[in-house]
Amino acid sequence: MKILIATDKPFAAEAVTGIREVIDGAGMQVALLEKYTDKKQLLDAVRDANAIIIRSDIIDAEVLDAATQLKIVVRAGAGYDNVDLAAATAHNVVVMNTPGQNSNAVAELALGLMVYAVRNAYDGSSGSELQGKKLGIHAYGNVGRNVARIAKGFGMEIYAYDAFCPKEVIENDGVKAVSSAEELYASCQFISLHIPATAETKNSINAALLDKMPKGAVLVNTARKEVINEADLLKVLETRPDFKYVTDIMPDKDAEIKEKFAKRYFSTPKKMGAQTAEANNNAGVAAAKQIVDFLVNGNTKFQVNK
Ligand SMILES: NC(=O)c1ccc[n+]([C@@H]2O[C@H](COP(=O)([O-])OP(=O)(O)OC[C@H]3O[C@@H](n4cnc5c(N)ncnc54)[C@H](O)[C@@H]3O)[C@@H](O)[C@H]2O)c1
Repeated sequence: MKILIATDKPFAAEAVTGIREVIDGAGMQVALLEKYTDKKQLLDAVRDANAIIIRSDIIDAEVLDAATQLKIVVRAGAGYDNVDLAAATAHNVVVMNTPGQNSNAVAELALGLMVYAVRNAYDGSSGSELQGKKLGIHAYGNVGRNVARIAKGFGMEIYAYDAFCPKEVIENDGVKAVSSAEELYASCQFISLHIPATAETKNSINAALLDKMPKGAVLVNTARKEVINEADLLKVLETRPDFKYVTDIMPDKDAEIKEKFAKRYFSTPKKMGAQTAEANNNAGVAAAKQIVDFLVNGNTKFQVNK
C-alpha cells in the first residue's frame, strides 16, 4: 500500500517523521510530494497512491480521476472544504478529517487576537481588558470548546450558539447556551467565529448580525473568510467607529480595509491558526493512524462523506 503525503505547505519535519513511523510500522510505503508548484505534479503523484494525506491541498474531480488506486483521503486538520466530497463519493473514496487535533492552537490564536485588539495593536496606548467582558462563541465545536476553556482563565463571561450541539453539552462546560446567532451577537461585545464554511454559513455574518453587537464590538475570525459578508463588514467598519475586526483569514479587500481602518483591523499575513509544531504533529500523525486503521480494520469513524 502506498500512502502519499501531498502538501503544498509542508508539514514540519518532526510531523513527517511521526507519519513515517506509523506507516512504516504498518508495513506500508510513504511517498512525499511537498511544495509542488504545478497541479500536474499532484496528478502524477496520485496515480499509484492508495491513500493521500493532505493539508489545504485541493482534491477535486480531476485529481480523483487521476488517482485510480485511491481508497482514502485524509485532511490533516479540521476544515475539509478543499475536498470535493461529492466527487470523492462518486469515486468510492473515503474522505476524513482529523477533528480536534489543532483546536488548541487555533483557540490560543483567537484569544491572542482578542488581546491584540483590546491593547490597540500593542501601540503603547492605554487599552482595555478581557476580564468580565462577554464573549460569544459562534459554534461550539472542537475549537469553540477550547476557546471557552481558555477564556475562562481570562475571567470572561462566556456565551455560545451552535445549531447542532445540544444545549446541555454547552451548559455542562459552564457556558451560557443561547438559541440563535442573533441573540449571541446582541449579548456579546466579543464574538469569536468557529462555524465551518458550508452552503448555509457562507456570507452569513452580515451587517444585520454585526450591528446587533454592543458598543466596543470585537469580531474575531479564525474560521473561514467565506463566512463573512465582506461588503457588509466594510459597511459596519465604516458606520461603527467602535467596531474592530481581527482575523486569521485575510479578506479579499485586505488592502482597502487596512488603508481605511488601520487601527481597528488586523489580519495575519497567512492563515496560521493551526500552524504550530504541536498541531502539525498531532494532525499528521492522527491522519496516518486513521489511514492505517481504515485500510487494515475498515474503521470509518472520522469519515465526512457518508
Ligand atoms: N485558522 C485556522 O487555521 C483553522 C484551523 C482549524 C479550523 N479552522 C476553521 O474553524 C472551523 C471550526 O473548527 P472545529 O475544529 O471547531 O470544527 P468542528 O467541526 O469541531 O465544529 C464546528 C461546529 O460548528 C457547528 N455548526 C455547523 N454549522 C453551523 C451553523 N450553521 N450555525 C451554528 N453552528 C454550526 C457544528 O455543530 C460544530 O459544533 C473549521 O470548520 C475550519 O473552517 C480554521
